[in-house]
Amino acid sequence: MCAAPMPSLAHIFRGTFIHSTWTSPMEVLRDHLLGVSDSGKIVFLEEASQQEKLAKEWCFKPCEVRELSNHEFFMPGLVDTHIHAPQYSFAGSNVDLPLLDWLTMYTFPTELKFQNIDFAEEVYTRVVRRTLKNGTTTACYFGTIHTDSSLLLAEITDKFGQRALVGKVCMDMNATVPEYKETTEESIKETERFVSRMLQKNYSRVKPIVTPRFSLSCSDTLLSKLGNMAKTHNLHIQSHISETVGEVDAVKNLFQDYKNYTDVYDRNNLLTNKTVMAHGCYLSAEELQVFKERGAAIAHCPNSNLSLSSGFLNVLEVLKHEVKIGLGTDVAGGYSASMLDAIRRAVMVSNILLINKINEKSLTLKEVFRLATLGGSQALGLDKEIGNFEVGKEFDALLINPKASDSPIDLFSGDLAGDTSEAVIQKFLYLGDDRNIEEVYVGGKQVVPFSSSV
Ligand code: GUN
Ligand code: ZN
Repeated sequence: MCAAPMPSLAHIFRGTFIHSTWTSPMEVLRDHLLGVSDSGKIVFLEEASQQEKLAKEWCFKPCEVRELSNHEFFMPGLVDTHIHAPQYSFAGSNVDLPLLDWLTMYTFPTELKFQNIDFAEEVYTRVVRRTLKNGTTTACYFGTIHTDSSLLLAEITDKFGQRALVGKVCMDMNATVPEYKETTEESIKETERFVSRMLQKNYSRVKPIVTPRFSLSCSDTLLSKLGNMAKTHNLHIQSHISETVGEVDAVKNLFQDYKNYTDVYDRNNLLTNKTVMAHGCYLSAEELQVFKERGAAIAHCPNSNLSLSSGFLNVLEVLKHEVKIGLGTDVAGGYSASMLDAIRRAVMVSNILLINKINEKSLTLKEVFRLATLGGSQALGLDKEIGNFEVGKEFDALLINPKASDSPIDLFSGDLAGDTSEAVIQKFLYLGDDRNIEEVYVGGKQVVPFSSSV
């Protein structure tokens, strides 16, 4: 007999679970049982030897336990801390110019097309499907300056069940064509409309984020009003910082009353413990210290930094300063929408800093895995809800099958001895793709394979 009535369980899985904690970059928990409540929360994660005790406590029968094969494993969902949804329309092309030219040549003209809601619907549906299939359970999206398209992006992420922060982009200066930007008043008024519609909608896992594009696109007045708005509604904030040398120089010229790039955001109340800034390749130790003091985070986007020849972020230095950090794809400066690609590029960038004797060590694959999961959740201020398989958190997870049909991974007898070897996990992280990501869960709900209703 089971004990007093408990909340019923949506899932009970038995097998291997890998995740990160703050003390261990990767724990591999073999032959464990994980229970998920109807509300999508993890209610237990214990050794399978505890099954009888758990069955009594949670009132389940052995036939309700889903057993994974011994090569399969669950890992936490990937957190993309920086992605431009409209730019997915040209991802995989046009990365042949430095940032500021790339913005005027390719990016602004593409983003203008999102005044057309039908085009927005097509691209936004595809980017949400593509990222979810590739294991991104949480995405921090830039939209465009167009409020209605950005609201549609939020609606689509909600419909597909992806967890997201969605921002309507703000920019009131330095555009080569007037249509690329808004007036200061429009930008504020439309951001207020965006935020208030988002708060009305009250999506369970999709929230608004205040999004000044970057200092070069925003006047002091706009920055300061956005800072105040974020404060009033306790909102998340995202932008770009110190991505390229050319950009840092231009900011220095344009914002001469400020100490440095970080100071431009800081003095306008845009650097808070709910802020995530993309790139940060050229931040000084002094600026990193300000990030730490404010609790602001960095989105490391290695594919973009390499593709646009922007620079290298020294992640070890960021960690040394105890600044929160996650990984981002930065589509389409980064040409891949897959966070597995971001993991691989982050390892390579770190290796380059070691080769060039800038650092004495490199990040390990396990440490980068932590950045892509727990680190990202912390960077977005969501680490109480997601990021690993701690009891009480929501079950955002990927079921990995390293032997999936037509898989890009070859396994040999040594890999397959016993339950999920470390080599199999590494092969998935380095070689795997969406074919190996058989199921995706967000808040306990299976969202991949896609349901026929979306
Ligand atoms: N800085 C300002 N806007 C952008 C953008 O769209 N992409 C990147 N990578 N950097 C930016
Ligand atoms: Zn970006």
